[in-house]
Amino acid sequence: MTAPWTLPDFDDHEGVHIFRDAATGLTGIVGVHSTTLGPALGGTRFWHYPTPEDAVVDALRLSRGMSYKNAMAGLPLGGGKAVILAGPDRRTRPEQLAAFARAIESLGGRYVTAQDVGLTQDDMATLAEHTRFICGQPGAEKGMAGGDSGPPTALGVYLGLRAAIARALGKDDPRGVHVAIQGVGSVGGNLARRLAADGARLTLADVYPDRAQSLAAELGAEAVPAEAILAVDADVVSPCALGAVLNEGSIAAMKARVVAGAANNQLATAEDAARLHARGILYAPDYVINAGGVINVGLQYLGGNTMADVEARIAQIPARLEQVWAESAVEDRPAAEVADDIARRLIGRA
Ligand code: NAI
Repeated sequence: MTAPWTLPDFDDHEGVHIFRDAATGLTGIVGVHSTTLGPALGGTRFWHYPTPEDAVVDALRLSRGMSYKNAMAGLPLGGGKAVILAGPDRRTRPEQLAAFARAIESLGGRYVTAQDVGLTQDDMATLAEHTRFICGQPGAEKGMAGGDSGPPTALGVYLGLRAAIARALGKDDPRGVHVAIQGVGSVGGNLARRLAADGARLTLADVYPDRAQSLAAELGAEAVPAEAILAVDADVVSPCALGAVLNEGSIAAMKARVVAGAANNQLATAEDAARLHARGILYAPDYVINAGGVINVGLQYLGGNTMADVEARIAQIPARLEQVWAESAVEDRPAAEVADDIARRLIGRA
């Protein structure tokens, strides 16, 4: 396997920790990108990778992304991410999770884990039995930070979307603004309800069409097939399903003037940031607008924070987006690039 520090995604990460446990068959990797601002917080992903190198690359890439996200959210937290290499049956095993939690514990708090793709709330509870360096597990007290991150994420996207329509369309509120939402799950569904309450016009899509249709019927919205949503003649497109949906084809076909949604890694390639910019589409960089979830679990980890504290921090997301858009306009550069630059300045890596 190629040495991690020679891979293109290696960005002077502070640590790349590989854990093997013969008794349980565990192979896990913890990428600690930066602890400049605080403990490196980021979820553990449980995934079946084609090769071990793919797993290392994911840990490198995702941990750097968490540094950027946490810095832009104004959290006193650095960036890290862990991956557990799933076996061919893709099933988690409690004894393996326990071994991994002990490995996290051995890092002494430099890395703090949370839930990510492939792990359930039950898995988080198993991890929490063996490490203190964890957040987002069930059992959050009422009114305190933590618990389901879908609603706080949706709140941040909603506020960011409002800032975007103010800037791009001169609209002070969403009444009459047409928003096309891709994916009406936890975040997209909550966002749709907020916007419907404001009198926005909504078009919804989901790979499970009945999910979009029933929400559309409830909210007086329209549902369209999943493959049509990004090209709907709307003011705003809100990707709230998968990553890599903004590509050469979808950007060329887009009629909306704003992209503001929750999905992680929306841009298929770095060139797509430039494509959006060239078309004059205002883009809310994904990791800035979708930080509500990490704000929720991060403030839970830091301790003593209420949901009111979480909401107050989420309310800062529009100001951060304004900073990105202002710099993007002045320098005539893509918003996604500018966001990365600001994040690197914040973590002392400009
Ligand atoms: P979810 O799984 O509850 O909802 C996703 C929805 O998208 C599902 O209804 C699914 O059927 C639909 N979908 C999948 N592929 C689709 C496609 N090609 N076209 C249309 N619909 C499709 O997930 P959740 O929690 O709402 O998250 C949405 C996105 O936001 C994900 O990309 C996630 O990584 C990201 N995100 C979520 C956070 C959270 O706290 N829940 C935090 C930050 C980012």
